[in-house]
Amino acid sequence: MKCVRCKKKAVIVLRRHNAAFCADCFLHYYKNQVLKNIRKNRMFEKGEKVLVVVSGGKDSMALWDILVKEGYNVVAMYINLGIGEYSNRSQEVVEKFAKENNLPLIVKDIKKEFGLDIYKLSKTLRRSPCSVCGSIKRYLFNKVAYDGGFSAVATGHNLDDEAATLFGNVLNWEEGYLARQGPVLPQTHPKLIKKVKPLYTLTERENMYYVLLNKIEFLHEECPHSVGARSILYKEVLNKLEEESPGTKQRFLSGFLEKGKKHFQDVRERLELKECKNCGQVTTTEECSFCRFVRICNQQ
Ligand code: FES
Ligand code: ZN
Repeated sequence: MKCVRCKKKAVIVLRRHNAAFCADCFLHYYKNQVLKNIRKNRMFEKGEKVLVVVSGGKDSMALWDILVKEGYNVVAMYINLGIGEYSNRSQEVVEKFAKENNLPLIVKDIKKEFGLDIYKLSKTLRRSPCSVCGSIKRYLFNKVAYDGGFSAVATGHNLDDEAATLFGNVLNWEEGYLARQGPVLPQTHPKLIKKVKPLYTLTERENMYYVLLNKIEFLHEECPHSVGARSILYKEVLNKLEEESPGTKQRFLSGFLEKGKKHFQDVRERLELKECKNCGQVTTTEECSFCRFVRICNQQ
């Protein structure tokens, strides 16, 4: 098969676009998608400070690399969540990339810095490690971005992630989540920094090609707690649909963003935001969940 752009031999076929690309033209396509997503959704401008959330996986490494290459003002941030060897290996990958490319990187270690233990919290609160971990990550990324004067927090969420999240939210009619789902979570409070997803139209497979073609090291394994997660089941179902009918995920997501999301707009305004009595960060309760976690882990 030939590249649709230059007619050289193609290395990747994108069935949902009815296209095939050689390595150079794929990278050109990839870059254009990212730049278009940033501009179309007004995620951030060239000079603005952007905090890029990195985990060592292919998606966040691809995002970090492309934003640096395109001249955006980015600082990466990594959180060591104390998930055994997985956390240590991912930290190594991220630190190595920063060092080799001379890039700024903020590293936070929740155990060393705050005494937090997601296993203890998960047991005490009877919540899954993933949900505890998610709250900690959201809090710290936002806090560092706010304290550091960043304009946006960028994550490597891809099309597969976004379609699976949407699928789950539709199946359960999670109106609040549907109101907020999208490539940009705007600033609704002076202390809540805007969240953006520049890779939301690119698939996992395309991010994989991007890191492989650029010879970027990444951690192949997923977090051990993601195994058996509901989101993986949703991804499998969507992959089956995609195989039969290429473009399903993209149509599902873009259709929702264009036609469906507006119907949930009024749900968003019902959330009342307060400031945590200890740390001043935004929460819906008196004390934010992060401060509560720190209290639980440090008592006795
Ligand atoms: Fe948070 Fe796996 S990355 S529990
Ligand atoms: Zn707090």
